[in-house]
Amino acid sequence: MAIAIMTSGGDCAGMNPAIKHFVDYCYTKEVQPYLIYDGLEGLIDGNIKAATYEDVAGIMHEGGTKIRSSRSKRFFEYEYRKQAFENLKKHKIDKILILGGDGSFRALNQFYKDFGVHFVGVPATIDNDIFGTSYCLGVDTALNIIRGATDAVRDTSSSFRRACVIETMGRDCGYLALVSAITCGAEVCIIPELEYDLESIGKRLKEEIKNGRKYVVCIVAEGCNKDKCTSTNQLVQWLENDIKIETRATILGHVQRGGNPTVFDRLMASKFVTYSIDKLLSDQEGGSVIVYNDSKFEFVTIDYVNSQKYEIREDLLELAKRLVN
Ligand code: F6P
Repeated sequence: MAIAIMTSGGDCAGMNPAIKHFVDYCYTKEVQPYLIYDGLEGLIDGNIKAATYEDVAGIMHEGGTKIRSSRSKRFFEYEYRKQAFENLKKHKIDKILILGGDGSFRALNQFYKDFGVHFVGVPATIDNDIFGTSYCLGVDTALNIIRGATDAVRDTSSSFRRACVIETMGRDCGYLALVSAITCGAEVCIIPELEYDLESIGKRLKEEIKNGRKYVVCIVAEGCNKDKCTSTNQLVQWLENDIKIETRATILGHVQRGGNPTVFDRLMASKFVTYSIDKLLSDQEGGSVIVYNDSKFEFVTIDYVNSQKYEIREDLLELAKRLVN
């Protein structure tokens, strides 16, 4: 029996621990582990290698993904999927463990429909935007990086009586910004999922500044740069012109996608991977996604994951409501 692992789409911390657990656990189960390099692009190009202990030695603490990743357009075309299938056949690989987001799962679901390659998807994205799971691998590390950066920016903002606008990643989802605003003590949180009232935020900030507030921390989700939301630049202009406080913007960008995985992400990597391999070994066919809710793991179909848009839980949104008025 041979199982291959691949990482696809945006990388995240926790992927390397997952790859290491995958190889170690496969050997325990007397299964030959394979590594597919460069995500779906590597699958098409046959960038596949039987894994040894050495391939994954010393990667537990590293961010990113040792087997690299890609966002593949070619995989949408049948001709390239066929080529990918031929590559798997050469190595007698009939099962795949894929770490990525819902787009990657959809791609493998099509691959399963075409050629019957059995797979399990592990939700892995800092955006935490996959429907059906409350947690995606990499989120805890990303949140800790945002926390470190926000703490540092607050230091310098307070030295100058300035406001700072910190933009987090998350694509269309405000989860990273929301949790960061709650846990970093921000005064303002602007995300696509929460209605906000700049006029009343403004009144509150002016009052607080009059009463001695020396700095203002605003956290804004990158998704606000689209839609009807106030963008990072607009927020800076508003703070300077309306609130009359000198303001600097920090766009955290890809720093949030790297860094040493936290203990929580290492543990989640181990659990996601162990249960997924058990699933691949006990089932003979199909495609599913492992999800985590209320401290429990279960397997759901790709159709279920794709059936709805991910929504942030109401109780979490509730905690930030005082930051939007
Ligand atoms: O999906 C993860 C993510 O980091 C998003 O938060 C962000 O919008 C996007 O990927 C950035 O993609 P890229 O690395 O291709 O610029």
